[in-house]
Amino acid sequence: MAISFNSENRIFKLDTSNATYAFQVFEAGYLIHLYYGAKIPDDNLAAFYYHGGFASFSPSRWEVENGNFSPDMSPMEYSTEGAGDFRLSALAIRNANGDNTTDVRYVSHKIIAGKPDLPAMPHLYLNSEGEADTLEVLTEDAVTGAKVTLVYTVFRNKPVITRHVRVENGSDRRMDLERIYSCCVEFPTMDYDMYHLYGRWSKERSLQVRPLAHGIQSICSKRGSSGHYHNPFVALATKNATEQYGEAYGFNFVYSGNFAAEVEVDSSCSTRLIMGINPESFGWVLEPGSTFVSPEVVMVYSNEGLGGMSRAFHDVYRENLVRGRWKTEKRPLLINSWEAAFFDFDAEKLFAFAERAKEMGIEMLVMDDGWFGKRDDDTTSLGDWFVNEKKLQGGLKSLVDRVHGIGMKFGIWYEPEMISPESELYKAHPDWCVHVANRANSVARHQYVIDMSRQDVRDNIFEQMYGVLSATPVDYLKWDFNRNITEAGSALLPPERQKEFFHRFVLGTYELMGRLTEAFPDMLIENCSGGGGRFDPGMFYYSPQIWCSDNTDPIERLTIQFGSSLCYPGSCMGAHVSACQRTDIDTRANVAMWGTFGYELDPCKLNEADYEAVKVQVKEYHRYYNVTHNGDLYRLITPFENAHRAAWMFVSKDKSEALFTAVVMRRPEYEAFFIRLQGLDPNAMYRDEATGEVYSGALLMNAGLNLTGTPITDGSSFTKYFTIVK
Ligand code: GLA
Repeated sequence: MAISFNSENRIFKLDTSNATYAFQVFEAGYLIHLYYGAKIPDDNLAAFYYHGGFASFSPSRWEVENGNFSPDMSPMEYSTEGAGDFRLSALAIRNANGDNTTDVRYVSHKIIAGKPDLPAMPHLYLNSEGEADTLEVLTEDAVTGAKVTLVYTVFRNKPVITRHVRVENGSDRRMDLERIYSCCVEFPTMDYDMYHLYGRWSKERSLQVRPLAHGIQSICSKRGSSGHYHNPFVALATKNATEQYGEAYGFNFVYSGNFAAEVEVDSSCSTRLIMGINPESFGWVLEPGSTFVSPEVVMVYSNEGLGGMSRAFHDVYRENLVRGRWKTEKRPLLINSWEAAFFDFDAEKLFAFAERAKEMGIEMLVMDDGWFGKRDDDTTSLGDWFVNEKKLQGGLKSLVDRVHGIGMKFGIWYEPEMISPESELYKAHPDWCVHVANRANSVARHQYVIDMSRQDVRDNIFEQMYGVLSATPVDYLKWDFNRNITEAGSALLPPERQKEFFHRFVLGTYELMGRLTEAFPDMLIENCSGGGGRFDPGMFYYSPQIWCSDNTDPIERLTIQFGSSLCYPGSCMGAHVSACQRTDIDTRANVAMWGTFGYELDPCKLNEADYEAVKVQVKEYHRYYNVTHNGDLYRLITPFENAHRAAWMFVSKDKSEALFTAVVMRRPEYEAFFIRLQGLDPNAMYRDEATGEVYSGALLMNAGLNLTGTPITDGSSFTKYFTIVK
């Protein structure tokens, strides 16, 4: 068991592969956080971390420690509103008397083998029972009857803990949930830097690093989706942590809607981190006997720097988050029609793409936006999910059959959560869009959002999709989401429940995605939201890959891919070679090879040299697939620290092969280029497949490679592929 409870000192100890997390049932049932860090064998922690002591203006409780205990001065395992702790609260429940003072104390606990499923929400799952154990700690507010269960799942062989919280109204009167964060974690000092990923459309997930400061520092989304602007990921790393050294604590929210991650440094220089649904746009009515379950947070601890943290996230997401056939099966190499044709295509043009792509070894044609309703631009037809036969003469099936006939797979694009005001569906059901009473809707990209909180709406969209997809054997579906939610309300919700809208919308989307994956288990799904605007673990539960960004310029892609890799594996990152002119086609491919790899260009317009280059790249894709999709990533030179060059490498799990890539973003000031590789077996010998030179892993990692003389012009790049010498 990875979890123990010492009944003498009443300390819970949660042990992952490399870390210990401990907290205590203190006097009067308060839960006090004790420790989170590198693994320790014993649990004699209480005296060390208990703050205690009197502090002016920090309220104390007479019944605890003779008045020397204040929740405001103590590391609280799950902080609550209004009962003596003025710092960030993780939980606030407005009770039937109208106040929101919330004070939960320990009642009981259970430790179980395995990990119970989270109902109706994405979550990490286990592949075998012995992988993890779960602790459920029941607490209760004795005054209101709110029963709050803190749930922790501890992975035995991974540095991972997941957390969520369940609240049940155990009284006979209504309660209103005002905030419910999925985790609260305390650190005794403020000696950390905060890492997070910010951006915008076409520039997603750049890295921001800032030293913790007194007060609150936070990131959030109120957009109805996780969004382009901040990713639901935060890490705290010890000062001067690097890719290889130092401690890093990573937190990632398995949720695709409004989130908040907040970090507060208090007057004692200690730090509290909370992560969960953004309370600014959330509320939930809890009728007597009803329960609310929060989404899940994944926590990773690394004492091998940020690189170790990232590799732990990559492993657990590949093994315990991504599901279905395409979790392990090799994914088809695709070409997407969007940048090649936008809305301007017909069946012949698409078939010509397929034929030309097939010649080069590409395996699947994806027909992007524009195949349905009357959609010739982005002003119409979302919601009218029937084939535009003016474009696809002879219907979808005839095109798909022809493409299948030449041995290519076929993919299709949908944007199921949207409705165009200019559509048949909107004319028939104007109340199906997300809206509030008496207010005109804002438009974005000429479209409204459809009300996913409604079962009848979801049924309609599902039936439309099912009709098309069951009549035509489609191999892949790109699920897009091209605006954020404003005037957030549903025609079906009573006034007191309108505050539930955003969360209900997300649950509705999950339900529809779940139905689709069940109905078409063999179909590969790729998520997308104007590029990477909903690039979060919630979505990876339903689709093993997400389009990383609409920006396909390979130099711009570097910050996007380096940032994304903080917690997301390359096998999840949609990355294509486009017609972008800034670099030659080899650099475009070298960068896209980090991700899922594919093409996003008109194959009929390739010149002879590029046509031949693609054939070589296709071979390389197959050759490197195992190492890039299943291997370990090492970020060697990041574009956040070096304006000239970026370099990274993948090493296969058995350390028998490695792929090194370097890209020149801007000509370096000097030509000398030495680099130490990482992650190899020091005792093994490796052959550089291009030159035939053989080096020990120890040499490559300690002396490094002398790459002076490799290309240095802007936009140039090269790879080196090493295989173990048997
Ligand atoms: C979004 C996606 C693109 C493409 C278009 C189609 O912007 O990110 O890849 O699918 O929509 O409208």
